[in-house]
Amino acid sequence: MCGIIGYTGSENVRDVLLDALELLEYRGYDSAGIAVKDQETKQTAVYKCAGRVSDLRAICGSETTAAGCGIGHTRWATHGGVNDRNAHPHQVGKVTLVHNGIIENYRELIADYDLAGELQSETDSEVVAALLNHFYEGNPKEALKKTVSKLRGTFALVVLFADQGDVIYSTRNVSPIVATLCDEGAMLASDLTALCRFTNRYFVVPEYHILELHSDKLVLSDFDGNIVEPEYLTADWELNSAGKNGYPFYMEKEIMEQPEAIENTIANRIKGGLPDFSADNVPDTLFTDCERITIIACGTAMHAGLVAQALVKSILHMHIDVEMASEFMYSDPVIDEKTLVIAVSQSGETIDTLEAVKYAKRRGAKCLSIINVKGSSIARESDYVLYTNAGPEIAVASTKAYTTQLAVFYLIVAKMAWSRGIFTTEETQSFVRELQRTPEVMKQVLEHRRDIHLVAKRVLAAKDLFMIGRGLDYSILLEGSLKLKEVSYIHSEAYASGELKHGPIALITQDTPVIAAVTQEKLMSKELSNIKEVKSRGADVVVFIKETIAGSLEGEYEVFELPNMQDEFMVMPASVALQLLAYYVSSDKGFDVDKPRNLAKVVTVE
Ligand code: G6P
Repeated sequence: MCGIIGYTGSENVRDVLLDALELLEYRGYDSAGIAVKDQETKQTAVYKCAGRVSDLRAICGSETTAAGCGIGHTRWATHGGVNDRNAHPHQVGKVTLVHNGIIENYRELIADYDLAGELQSETDSEVVAALLNHFYEGNPKEALKKTVSKLRGTFALVVLFADQGDVIYSTRNVSPIVATLCDEGAMLASDLTALCRFTNRYFVVPEYHILELHSDKLVLSDFDGNIVEPEYLTADWELNSAGKNGYPFYMEKEIMEQPEAIENTIANRIKGGLPDFSADNVPDTLFTDCERITIIACGTAMHAGLVAQALVKSILHMHIDVEMASEFMYSDPVIDEKTLVIAVSQSGETIDTLEAVKYAKRRGAKCLSIINVKGSSIARESDYVLYTNAGPEIAVASTKAYTTQLAVFYLIVAKMAWSRGIFTTEETQSFVRELQRTPEVMKQVLEHRRDIHLVAKRVLAAKDLFMIGRGLDYSILLEGSLKLKEVSYIHSEAYASGELKHGPIALITQDTPVIAAVTQEKLMSKELSNIKEVKSRGADVVVFIKETIAGSLEGEYEVFELPNMQDEFMVMPASVALQLLAYYVSSDKGFDVDKPRNLAKVVTVE
């Protein structure tokens, strides 16, 4: 959580920092701040406030002298409430600092080094600034080393020292920092999104190293002072692909991008009509040698895992667990060297998923991860990685990352079914062909988005809402329901239809709309009975139904027909429809769709 930017170079630093913070706002958006070194006075001026980057822009005004060096931060509060004082950067003595992470021993540090008198905020971060200032005697690297040796917790620190000219210093543990040198100067950030306006070449700053940014060079060294060559990566994201491209919100843009994103995810992984991970360096033995699968993930990524679980059970008949990464380590999971652990994460930085991967590896499991952000922490920690190639996902509510994660899972299931002799070559090719139809089918849903907008209007006034379905439909609705509650603040619960009678039906009234998904032919008749049950208790029911079976629905319902695919693949069109539903409810209510209250896109605190 928390977005960080640092820049030293030829451009107007205030503009570079504020523009970058806008792109990083998805990491936290309760306060924002920048510090810039004035080129004439050599003073470091701090501008910060509670609120959005737009509020910060207003207080920076146009009077700020253009300068060549500065740092910035957008905050998701952990220690200390949301107010101007707790916003970063923090300035103590000669040190001006921004921090992402959590310092667990900040109270001891205040006591041990008698820092209380120097603090103005309630944050753990300001304690680091004070400690760094305490140790600083003109040598930034020595002071950073001493400070870091006293810290317990996670941190990405970015620092300006008053007497060190236009140089930015940074070090980190767990919390990520990426950096680059380009024509406009040197810059670092908490993630790639902020850099890709300038370049697609970047490197991940290794943990417990010190990075110095000068306007014309970068110096990376370890804590013993040895110079280290940065290992540059190339992002295949287009420069400027992080813009809204004419859409009012990123969420809409990202929903609309899904056909292309799926294409990018699968195209290079299909050879001769068969799944092929050789370009990803994933050996076939990974899929043939395992006896069980455990998927670990959080949020939407975990929901992608639930769809995979249903497919693995029905097609591969294998033992598969899906674990919330935050619970995984504390639940005595059955993990050994015969377990294939699949970690799923858009950002590749979710701390619970990262820690779960480390734990599984200690228990001897092989770890394959499905990740969107190249070179991210989980990707680096895993034995093998399949990148989703969805491009930058900026809206906090995940859409294209989810469906591209599903696309990778379809390929994995096809690969396993084929290599384990469950599917013949022809059956595998036919399964893969159906996956290849997905972009076209998604386009059909997107073309009918106005109809979904009309459906959305029916649930606008709801306070509570249920989503019901069976089998794969239930897995899809868990995600559909999460999407709706994240962005519209309607209390929504997904229920397996058969469970309705065991409690939730007591809550059904005419004020509780019900959204039903009916895409699984073999479960259709039972599902239709459940729909009638809620209808007869007064609920306004909206049905998302596969078009080839829509004729079986009798009665008066609001219906959206989903284009036809084989049952296993109906997840794809249904997910797009449910994403659009959530999007329209939120935008019609006038909410800031991309930045739902209290949420952050990258969750780097446990
Ligand atoms: C946050 C985001 C969700 C995301 C989850 C897991 O809650 O708001 O959209 O699904 O984290 O993130 P990851 O990056 O690991 O997929």
